[in-house]
Amino acid sequence: MIYHTPVLLNETVEFLIIDKSGVYFEGTIGFGGHTNEIISKLTKNAKFIGTDKDAVAYNHCKTKFEDNERVKLYNTSFINILNISRIEFIENYDGIFADLGVSSFQLDNKDSGFSFREDSPLDLRMDKSKGYPAAFVVNTFSQDEIADIIYKYGEERNSRLIAKKIVEYRNENKIETTGELRKIVESVSHAKFVTKSLSRVFQALRIFVNNELEELEDFLKKSLTILKVGGRIAIISFHSLEDRIVKEFFKQQTLTCVCPPEFPVCVCNTTPSLKILTKKPVVPTEYEIDENSRSRSAKLRVAEKI
Ligand SMILES: C[S@@+](CC[C@H](N)C(=O)[O-])C[C@H]1O[C@@H](n2cnc3c(N)ncnc32)[C@H](O)[C@@H]1O
Repeated sequence: MIYHTPVLLNETVEFLIIDKSGVYFEGTIGFGGHTNEIISKLTKNAKFIGTDKDAVAYNHCKTKFEDNERVKLYNTSFINILNISRIEFIENYDGIFADLGVSSFQLDNKDSGFSFREDSPLDLRMDKSKGYPAAFVVNTFSQDEIADIIYKYGEERNSRLIAKKIVEYRNENKIETTGELRKIVESVSHAKFVTKSLSRVFQALRIFVNNELEELEDFLKKSLTILKVGGRIAIISFHSLEDRIVKEFFKQQTLTCVCPPEFPVCVCNTTPSLKILTKKPVVPTEYEIDENSRSRSAKLRVAEKI
């Protein structure tokens, strides 16, 4: 069974590995596609730390890499990078990597409840032990709050109307499944755009219940503090909201002055901490997109600590 096909695999590994006996952190091990490739390039003295929030993905990798003493895995969010590093006595990393979003297994497996194509409980959490499911949001949040979530995290223009329909529906019946939410979105979307609207609504709720954007920002900040000078941070994103955060964060860290523009002279003494290695994001080749259509929206950005 193919759980997930890793995207931009060679490109990632080429950028990431600067020292074959170095120490590496991967925040999103998923089904171990990138992990496998990264550790295959490392020597016996190297060390690899990996995390994933999803228990199924973590358990899969735990078994897959159980005989590999260089690999230490944690079933938690990548925002715990600093605590984990302390536990592992790691002072700094040669490379830090994350391949954001969800895996094909999470999308395709009915029990994961991530896809509007399958009818399953409306949950959308990667870590089912934390926070609350998407069903809680659509059944208890106000109409305006739901509309804002769909607009902010899904960039869906029809957000107000969809939120109105959600509230009308829940006044009669509790919304419990992905199938019910799907029907509500379908009832107000033009047939031509319905798949796009469904993707946006489900993406919005997923980003919200997993706190994805805030966690990404937190992870980037923490990663910078524990990256070795000369070490690299590589992030693969799958939608514009994530990509914007990575791009802006990298850009901020290259600035030599952050004084307001009206200041006649610089008083901030800012020193840049990153050099961007990918002026434009690396995207999959046509061949990769043909082989794996889910790779089409992937963007890899890499920066080096200076
Ligand atoms: C695109 S998949 C990674 C696939 C992996 N590179 C592979 O080749 O199999 C993203 C994974 O990241 C996990 N994930 C997303 N956000 C996370 C976070 N904040 N902390 C830890 N894991 C996260 C998801 O559960 C999912 O397994």
